[in-house]
Amino acid sequence: MASTSPPADALVIGGGVIGLAIAWRAAVRGLSVTVVDPAPGRGASHAAAGMLTPVSELQYGEEALLRLNMDSADRYAAFAAELEEASGLPSGYRACGTLAVALDADDRAVLKELHAFQERLGLASTWLTSRECRRLEPMLSPAVSGGLHVEADHQIDNRRLVVALLAACERAGVAVVRRRVAELVTDAERATGVRLDDGTALTAAQVVLAAGCETNRLPGLPPGVVPAIRPVKGEILRLRVPEAYAPFLSRNVRGVVKGGSMYLVPRADGELVIGATEHELDDTVVTAGGVYELLRDAHELVPGITELPLVETHAGLRPGSPDNAPVIGATALPGLIAATGHYRHGILLTPVTAEAVAELLTDGTVPDVVRPWGPLRFALGDASGGRPLQEVSCA
Ligand code: GLY
Repeated sequence: MASTSPPADALVIGGGVIGLAIAWRAAVRGLSVTVVDPAPGRGASHAAAGMLTPVSELQYGEEALLRLNMDSADRYAAFAAELEEASGLPSGYRACGTLAVALDADDRAVLKELHAFQERLGLASTWLTSRECRRLEPMLSPAVSGGLHVEADHQIDNRRLVVALLAACERAGVAVVRRRVAELVTDAERATGVRLDDGTALTAAQVVLAAGCETNRLPGLPPGVVPAIRPVKGEILRLRVPEAYAPFLSRNVRGVVKGGSMYLVPRADGELVIGATEHELDDTVVTAGGVYELLRDAHELVPGITELPLVETHAGLRPGSPDNAPVIGATALPGLIAATGHYRHGILLTPVTAEAVAELLTDGTVPDVVRPWGPLRFALGDASGGRPLQEVSCA
């Protein structure tokens, strides 16, 4: 097997925002780092909307995950500022707040319940009447029946984030290898590196598996070491707001529309992202039905969207773990660390995941806030819902 490089301190499999941010933070701590990905930032990180909305996307039963989500949201402004400094590029972070709105009376009841839940957990959100919602966002339909204003839920332009992370990695000395990993290499006791699709062997003291939906497709990964990460398809649209209509929307708008939910994310540069469908599917085909559903619901909330140019339709695969929470930490295979399964919150959880894994790589410890989300929770059978490991693979 050909070997062209000296061993790295850390080798990261997967160059999405999670892998790139880990590599950057580890390199800042003085480690030599290699990232391997044939197309860095082109998977779920490219498809995402970049909502940083732990309060408005709160789900029942996810109180423990909320702590992690809030921790990462709290880190974002400083993380983005440091990234901009390190890369010399904009990160696309926008502290704009979020307005969650309801269409009909049933949707309003759903949001009222969410508001009560948020209040029980001590989260800051304010109930607004229809008129108050439209005062904040004049393009909203008069049919909107009320809403919740969450001033601390923001956004980042995920595509600018990828570009900035790549630049910061390169400036920090990270080697970004644009090739496919053919195999995880292990010896009798531990992970020792990877073999690439051209036969090159890369060795490292520690390997980080940050391959999102591709996690379980990695040849050489011993069974049961990382839980099954399943693909959850999302279709998403990108529109452009012409200068004459700006700002159109000034903050994220989440909508509950006839029982379904969707969102509109307006960028400072005039892009308007509308997402996202959610299906337990493993393809990235954009369907007419998906586009119809998104435009139909967006039009109910913001009728003026039909005037805007539709510039892109896209589909990506969210990486979902058996309990839909991330998998971050040392695995049962010495030398192999997991940072995957971020499901709907990969962009949000980037700062906390990156710092935690960088700390694990350098000091061998993880911060308390990340400890509940290690891969060993599945091996112990306390979070897998009884599903065997490796039950679902991402083809
Ligand atoms: N976080 C939004 C989504 O997954 O659609």
